[in-house]
Amino acid sequence: MARIRNTKKLGQRVNRTYLKRVYPIPQWRRILTFVFIAASLAWLGFHAVAHDQTPYTAGPLTAQHAFLGKKCAVCHGENVSIGKRVADPQCAACHDGPIHQASQTFNPACISCHVEHRGTMRLAGTADSGCVQCHGNLQTQTGKLTIAASVKSFDSHPEFGSVVSGKDASGLKFNHQKHIGEVGQKCADCHTPAEGAKGAPHSHVSPRAFMTLPTYEGTCMPCHALTIDDKIADPLPHKKQPDELHPMVEEQFRKYIAAHPGDLGKDGTPAASGAWVAFKVAAAEKKLQDETCARCHAVVAGADFASAVIVPPQVPSRWYTKASFDHSAHKELTCISCHVKAPKSTVSSDILVPGIAVCRDCHSSGSSSAGSNCSTCHIYHDWTKEKPVDGKYMIEQMTRSTAPHSMTTPPAVLTPAQLQ
Ligand code: HEC
Ligand code: HEC
Ligand code: HEC
Ligand code: HEC
Ligand code: HEC
Ligand code: HEC
Ligand code: HEC
Ligand code: HEC
Ligand code: HEC
Ligand code: HEC
Repeated sequence: MARIRNTKKLGQRVNRTYLKRVYPIPQWRRILTFVFIAASLAWLGFHAVAHDQTPYTAGPLTAQHAFLGKKCAVCHGENVSIGKRVADPQCAACHDGPIHQASQTFNPACISCHVEHRGTMRLAGTADSGCVQCHGNLQTQTGKLTIAASVKSFDSHPEFGSVVSGKDASGLKFNHQKHIGEVGQKCADCHTPAEGAKGAPHSHVSPRAFMTLPTYEGTCMPCHALTIDDKIADPLPHKKQPDELHPMVEEQFRKYIAAHPGDLGKDGTPAASGAWVAFKVAAAEKKLQDETCARCHAVVAGADFASAVIVPPQVPSRWYTKASFDHSAHKELTCISCHVKAPKSTVSSDILVPGIAVCRDCHSSGSSSAGSNCSTCHIYHDWTKEKPVDGKYMIEQMTRSTAPHSMTTPPAVLTPAQLQ
């Protein structure tokens, strides 16, 4: 019997309920889609009820601001919206960011350097672009420049000014080679980490960033005594000018001869005590002026010793005036790996602080570098101009996750009654 192939028969072969039939995978897809949407809405709703805007955040806040986690409004104002930037006064409510240079032509927004929502990074470790926006082609209000016009990276950074100037005009005579090579002293006999960072430009600098400079009393005295005569053991006090020393020298000889009258006339000295003292003082003062004090100092001669002047030494305690440095961050290195010239230096006018080549061995743009951001070595803010900030927030505003009132408007001044 021949098969009948009409459309009805063919139609019967098709399962007309296939649309209704639910296969396992599409079924789960559908269920999960609803579950996720519902969960997300519930989550947002939950946070909305809790006045918590965490879901809209762009990433975790840096460690120093993490405590502000849910207080979006302290930085963003009432409404976080696309394209609305964080304004400087929001930051200034909690801390000042004083300007950089009086001569700068504009004052960049805080957020052009201090980015947020990047998690664990150091907030003050800003990207070079913040600096290069001006230092790439530096302009000043006066049109005059006192520094390099273009610094775009540490790799193309100019040699350090302190090294270029090439002179240490401290006025203190000193010979590193003699004391290290011949006398056998070590750096640490004369230089130790300074307690308290003198002239440290900002709070990041460790209190042991710099090295002490030796003082006469603390370091040199045992080997370079200020005695005036073999027979007089008492040394003269240090840091006095000759006009103050002259009466002390006379007094020492007067006392000596009163106690030892037998020395009058000995070794070709005068026999009368007044003349003996004058004779000894003249010889001792000549030696002080030409040898003892002059060993370490420039002495401006006068009519006599009493009118001579010792030029007070001005040994700088900081060499980089425009950058920071920290010895304690480099304590794994030997001193001479940076201060290469120190053991061979015979005059104090040599510059012993390192130039840029030494730093570039480690601080360069390479991936295994110790960091070469401008902010590694420089400060931006002139903290001497920092203005005190009068805090605006109550503890509860900082801690409660349900904000009772707007974060941007400080609470009204409390009345004495409310304070009790
Ligand atoms: C300590 C201040 C601070 C706090 C608190 C803060 N933000 Fe931000 N936020 C910033 C800064 C700075 C930027 C980057 C500059 C800009 O675009 O305004 C930013 C950017 C954003 C952006 C834009 C992201 C982008 O890539 O442009 C969003 C969205 C955002 N924040 C959401 C939030 C939310 C939500 C919260 C609360 C959970 C919050 N922020 C808390 C400072 C803060
Ligand atoms: C509600 C108060 C508050 C607001 C608003 C705020 N900060 Fe802070 N900020 C702090 C506190 C507290 C610290 C940690 C203590 C400190 O270093 O002063 C801090 C630390 C910092 C630091 C130092 C980080 C470091 O590495 O030591 C920088 C930089 C900073 N904030 C910049 C900003 C900027 C830029 C803004 C505006 C986008 C801002 N802050 C908004 C309270 C605030
Ligand atoms: C051109 C980049 C730049 C701009 C713009 C800028 N900063 Fe800074 N800021 C830095 C650098 C670099 C540091 C770290 C060195 C320093 O202290 O100067 C820093 C440090 C800070 C610190 C940390 C101080 C500390 O050591 O604890 C605070 C707070 C701060 N800035 C607030 C602000 C505020 C507020 C503004 C806006 C008024 C602002 N900054 C604008 C670059 C910038
Ligand atoms: C708004 C423009 C501007 C920005 C941004 C800026 N600078 Fe400057 N900077 C200046 C001006 C102007 C001078 C003074 C130039 C002069 O007197 O010849 C200066 C001077 C300096 C000096 C030498 C003077 C000194 O005593 O410190 C250093 C170092 C320096 N800036 C580093 C930085 C670093 C690092 C940054 C980024 C964190 C930065 N600057 C961002 C404008 C800027
Ligand atoms: C006997 C004491 C003594 C010893 C030992 C000594 N120094 Fe000095 N150093 C001084 C005196 C004094 C000065 C200040 C006079 C001057 O500028 O040379 C000085 C200055 C310096 C300076 C800064 C001055 C400049 O011109 O750059 C550096 C850097 C320095 N010493 C490094 C070293 C190193 C590194 C060693 C060990 C290899 C060392 N010193 C060993 C006494 C000493
Ligand atoms: C451990 C002993 C010792 C100490 C400590 C010492 N010196 Fe000397 N110093 C010597 C000797 C030894 C000489 C070489 C002999 C001489 O010229 O009297 C010398 C020589 C000098 C000279 C002459 C250098 C030359 O070129 O001829 C000067 C200047 C000097 N010392 C300064 C200092 C100063 C400044 C200090 C303290 C920071 C110091 N010394 C600490 C032992 C010492
Ligand atoms: C061995 C080296 C040495 C000798 C010798 C020496 N001084 Fe000094 N003198 C120093 C050093 C180092 C300083 C710098 C700081 C300090 O010692 O406190 C100094 C500082 C001074 C100052 C400046 C004080 C101030 O307040 O700035 C005077 C003045 C002075 N000495 C006078 C003398 C006189 C006078 C003599 C000789 C009697 C003498 N010194 C011998 C090393 C010496
Ligand atoms: C990574 C290189 C480096 C090493 C390692 C190093 N220094 Fe320095 N040192 C410097 C720089 C840079 C300066 C200039 C800092 C300034 O005054 O601004 C300096 C300055 C000094 C000064 C002058 C005073 C001061 O602190 O500014 C003395 C003294 C000194 N160093 C001694 C030493 C001694 C001693 C050691 C070994 C314990 C040592 N240094 C190790 C780089 C180094
Ligand atoms: C042997 C490698 C090496 C050399 C050479 C070196 N540094 Fe560093 N420097 C480092 C390392 C590593 C760190 C980071 C240390 C840390 O994070 O505590 C650092 C940190 C620093 C810091 C930041 C300090 C702080 O407390 O944040 C400054 C500024 C700095 N170096 C300046 C210099 C200068 C200027 C020179 C050249 C005179 C120099 N360094 C030479 C390895 C080096
Ligand atoms: C590894 C440390 C380090 C880094 C990174 C660094 N600098 Fe410097 N910079 C210095 C030192 C040190 C000086 C010289 C300071 C002195 O002699 O007083 C200096 C000097 C300067 C000067 C003054 C130049 C002059 O003509 O006197 C400017 C401007 C400057 N730096 C800008 C920058 C900028 C912008 C960046 C980032 C692109 C940067 N620096 C990165 C260490 C550094």
